[in-house]
Amino acid sequence: MTDQEPKTKGIARILVGEQAIQQRVRELARDLDAEYRDVSPLMVGVLTGAIAFMTDLMRAMTIPVTIDFMAVSSYGASTKTSGVVRILKDLNEDVEGRRVLVVEDIVDSGLTLQYLLDVLRRRNPIDIGVVALLQKEKPDAVAVQVDRVGFTIPDEFVVGYGLDFAGRYRNLPYVAVLDDRIVSNE
Ligand code: IMP
Ligand code: MG
Repeated sequence: MTDQEPKTKGIARILVGEQAIQQRVRELARDLDAEYRDVSPLMVGVLTGAIAFMTDLMRAMTIPVTIDFMAVSSYGASTKTSGVVRILKDLNEDVEGRRVLVVEDIVDSGLTLQYLLDVLRRRNPIDIGVVALLQKEKPDAVAVQVDRVGFTIPDEFVVGYGLDFAGRYRNLPYVAVLDDRIVSNE
């Protein structure tokens, strides 16, 4: 999966390369095109991490979709989950009577997604689907609905393709592991 060398300072190793991501995004888009062929979905991107995945995924899909975004707090500037989830920005669109497709960057403990799904289910959508680019292999994660996953990765802190560390590295076109020195210096 390492189809290029990291050039960015602080990056130790690429976990999922750009070509692998783009290939997988096309596969997911094909599946979603088929699933939502008859009723156009409301794609809900979870800010800020899902922006890269959301924009690539929606452009790889051929059916017409509606998009909206929600922002929830998760980590702050730390790499550890706080368990506290808060809505920072709600949807503009009405969810009632719609097919909702939640687009997430990564499922780690699963707490953020669990909270978000609870909120959305109470608004009476037709159904809710979940697509996440990454899911960590984590035995103690909560059991939460994830219908499609791009890549299952080891339980390591990763950055790139929307994912940040202290607000940085979201712009990288691949998913990578940070140098230990960067994490311990913050
Ligand atoms: P969860 O609530 O523990 O599942 O965490 C979900 C959110 O935390 C994700 O949507 C990310 O924004 C963030 N997150 C979790 N793991 C990582 C990581 O390895 N790198 C960067 N952000 C992460
Ligand atoms: Mg997120």
